Amino acid sequence: MSSPAKAATPSFDVDLLRAQFPALSQEVRGKQLIYLDSAATALKPQCVIDAVAQVYERDCGNIHRAVHLPSQRATQSFEATRESVRSFLNAEHEKEIIFTSGTTASINMLAQCYGRGLKAGDKILVTGLEHHSNIVPWQLLCEQVGTELVVAQLDEDGDVPLDRIEALLKAGGVKVVAFAYISNALGTVLPAKKICAMAREYGAISMIDGAQAVPHLDIDVRDLGCDFYAFSGHKLYAPTGTGVLYGRFELLNSLPPYQGGGDMIRNVSFEKTTYAELPNRLEAGTPNIAGVIGLGAALSFLNSIDRAAARAHEEEVFRYADKALREIPGLRRIGTAKHSIGALSFVMDNAHPHDIGTIVDMEGVALRTGHHCAQPVMKAFSVPATARASLGIYTNFADIDALIASVRVVQEMFS
Ligand code: ALA
Repeated sequence: MSSPAKAATPSFDVDLLRAQFPALSQEVRGKQLIYLDSAATALKPQCVIDAVAQVYERDCGNIHRAVHLPSQRATQSFEATRESVRSFLNAEHEKEIIFTSGTTASINMLAQCYGRGLKAGDKILVTGLEHHSNIVPWQLLCEQVGTELVVAQLDEDGDVPLDRIEALLKAGGVKVVAFAYISNALGTVLPAKKICAMAREYGAISMIDGAQAVPHLDIDVRDLGCDFYAFSGHKLYAPTGTGVLYGRFELLNSLPPYQGGGDMIRNVSFEKTTYAELPNRLEAGTPNIAGVIGLGAALSFLNSIDRAAARAHEEEVFRYADKALREIPGLRRIGTAKHSIGALSFVMDNAHPHDIGTIVDMEGVALRTGHHCAQPVMKAFSVPATARASLGIYTNFADIDALIASVRVVQEMFS
């Protein structure tokens, strides 16, 4: 199978784009780096690195706290990012955007703040393809208040049939439907808009774990009809330690404070403290200022390219990789849902995924191997682990050719 030299998307030049990612130009183990672990964390374009450096080199002041110019500049860039995120999600208002340290923090915030209003016996519905960040925060809540976790299980392709979700909703008592838009382990894309509508119909709120979806899909929270949407900056070409919890205003505004501290108060005395309006009420303490400003730079970067063309290119590369992997004898793809994007998991006869990861690393190819923080998904497929190749906006056909060549080395060694 020979790779097309270029995708049929003339307004998107992947090679020009790759030049903006300095990490891609390095050699590892004497080979050109082939980065296929973007689902774990995406590489950062130079503009993001520069934006972060500028904060520490020039605009190093705390936000919302001082009248000096560095603080004013930092505050202005930080709040400008809130508007960029609002626009990126098509949220109605900037106050609906809460900065967190990542998807995990966003979901924990929601579980603790919204969950405190739930009672014993209320149900939280998740799906079989969740990663631990959308399981454990709800389990902690169950231990605290006696809520119950119910699970819409996977089918043999790694999809979640809607009738399994509906059956659980019909059984009654579900107050929260929390689900991944795209599975990090399998790449399955769930019909998020339909699931949110079903949740609404049965009187539950919906929370989309959008960590894997933000780099691959257009997100419009109003069109999706979700109540909450959580994502991380670092999978979106932005720094680690940044994230967002979007919430529909009426619901978000009804949440009690999560953590107490600076910036989330209106007045503090030893007798009584009153709290700030949104968004500050849910952003206690000094946030990751440089990281959030880097997130703003990442969104500007994404706005500067033809994202529809980039997505068309990515889909072509994904299909190409899927087909090429399936042609390797002794390799089994894990997760074959019709609508998938971003991640390709596989196992091989005789070779443990960690062997695969180690051998392809010697060829310069970076994959993730293991359970991908989604042990229930591994259990559903009766495998201890998989090897996973995951794509970013910079992934090209040559990366996939290098992956296939390195996997063939594994296959020859273990056959
Ligand atoms: N959730 C990240 C992954 O899938 C860490 O690798």
